Amino acid sequence: MTGWQIVPVGGLIEVKEFFRLIANKRFPMTTWIRSKEKLDYIQEPDLFHDVFGHAPMLTNKPFCGFMEAVGKLAVKHEDSKTISGMLDRLWWFTVEFGLVKEGNEVKIFGGGILSSKNEVAHSLSNKPQRKDFNPNVVMGTPFRIDRLQDVFFVVDSFEELFSSIENLGVMEAKVK
Ligand SMILES: [Fe+2]
Repeated sequence: MTGWQIVPVGGLIEVKEFFRLIANKRFPMTTWIRSKEKLDYIQEPDLFHDVFGHAPMLTNKPFCGFMEAVGKLAVKHEDSKTISGMLDRLWWFTVEFGLVKEGNEVKIFGGGILSSKNEVAHSLSNKPQRKDFNPNVVMGTPFRIDRLQDVFFVVDSFEELFSSIENLGVMEAKVK
């Protein structure tokens, strides 16, 4: 539907290799599954996280365009710690923990939320902060991988997310 492919991998792969695959419309997915004891959340991706959380989004064109563009930027700047860190945060708060408006409702699209029952309930509750998506704010917001998130960013649409990547040229200029 979008030209993307799934590439099976044994577990976590190096960030550079990960984004090289993403830049080429190949989404790495793990082939092992979490134990019962870690049913709700695990830090490293497993098959449930990848297939249930990420695979459906590979059918969405603007979203895929966004991922590809982030992947290409990440490859281009793979030796810059500053830009890599910014892009990691952009990826985290969208592909992994993103929310999207649909009419008057806020819905989940991030795979990190979708593969955790507690994070699903938490992200839509009144406990965390929910902020409108702004790539410059997102790229400067630190995150933790070992607990429920304190803040989520809400995109208006996947088209908005895709077009936001165009503004990242400004970021590149600033960092240099
Ligand atoms: Fe993931």
